[in-house]
Amino acid sequence: METKIQVICPKQIEKESLIKAAKILKNGGLVAFPTETVYGLGGDGLNPEAAEKIYNAKGRPSDNPLIIHIGEKKELDILTKEIPEMGRKLVEAFWPGPLTLIFYKSEIVPYSTTGGLETIAIRMPNHPIALGLLKESGVKIAAPSANTSGKPSPTKASHVIEDLAGKIDMIIDGGEVEIGLESTIVDVTGDNPVILRPGFITKEMLEQVVGLVEIDKAILEKNQGSGFIPKAPGMKYKHYAPKGDLTIYQGKLEHVVKRINQEAIRYEKEGKKVGIIATEETKNKYHIGIIKDIGTREEEETIARGLYNVLREFDQTNVEVILTESFESGYLGQAIMNRLLKAAGYQVIEVKD
Ligand code: TXA
Ligand code: MG
Repeated sequence: METKIQVICPKQIEKESLIKAAKILKNGGLVAFPTETVYGLGGDGLNPEAAEKIYNAKGRPSDNPLIIHIGEKKELDILTKEIPEMGRKLVEAFWPGPLTLIFYKSEIVPYSTTGGLETIAIRMPNHPIALGLLKESGVKIAAPSANTSGKPSPTKASHVIEDLAGKIDMIIDGGEVEIGLESTIVDVTGDNPVILRPGFITKEMLEQVVGLVEIDKAILEKNQGSGFIPKAPGMKYKHYAPKGDLTIYQGKLEHVVKRINQEAIRYEKEGKKVGIIATEETKNKYHIGIIKDIGTREEEETIARGLYNVLREFDQTNVEVILTESFESGYLGQAIMNRLLKAAGYQVIEVKD
């Protein structure tokens, strides 16, 4: 299949281009497009054939449900069975934005979109191209991240091209995304809201709106291997793993830098090619291997935005081991570490001195 690459500037959207993309969606085809979090692979969420095409293009297991994107809050009514009070409050506070909510689904939503579940994930993205496409097409767009299953989510059109060119109808290139990590997922079907996937909208931000918020135990680092099963099916799969063997070094930054340098020397002596994930603050303190700057600790948003790009860049090299600093401090720490830990298969070394 030939994949059309359509460049659209988010600040100056040409209606003609949106109309072409919308037509593909209305006809059951697939269009990848930017959102504020990551690029999504869109298809008609109410059309089972389109959902099947999405699973095939990504190589995604069919028990892993899709998120439906909507362009207006009122569309929630026809997609859900009921909207609990806490759900309404969260919608008012955070939509459009990087928050996905889980509701009981209405009958019009096919099981092929929800992976057979009675619940549905919905979000209203905050990106002019995504919103324009939703409005122009009138389609309820099911959109997982636009990567091959298991690879890091795409933060640029070139990442989508790498994974999906030749497999889908169109890729809209709208530049680099703003956030770079997938949306926070919150389940509002129970007594209390539960975070199923951490993201840019933090527990503290949610609690300011709805009071106590829980976190799915299965996604916490300390509970890995203890038998809890994540409520978001996608969280159980191996994710984001780079080709090189990734290890996280945790501790006081100066000690971490020293240890990473020592380990890099050791690996080089063993004849292994080394990669290091550094920050703007530390990149000049490393001397061995391929050193990549993920962002600055002064502005942790840059680290969130840079993470998947750095992991993908290392895949373009031949590094065999990747050593990274840790980024757990700060308000985005939980979201960043959730992804980094998965990428590292939970290999963490505590550095004491
Ligand atoms: O930021 C985002 O959320 C991006 C952009 C494109 O909107 N989308 C995204 O979709 O990350 P995806 O498919 O890569 O991740 C969706 C996650 C999966 O872990 C899936 O298991 C979970 O949402 N999910 C979907 N429906 C669910 C449901 N009914 N109950 C629990 N988890 C659900
Ligand atoms: Mg994904």
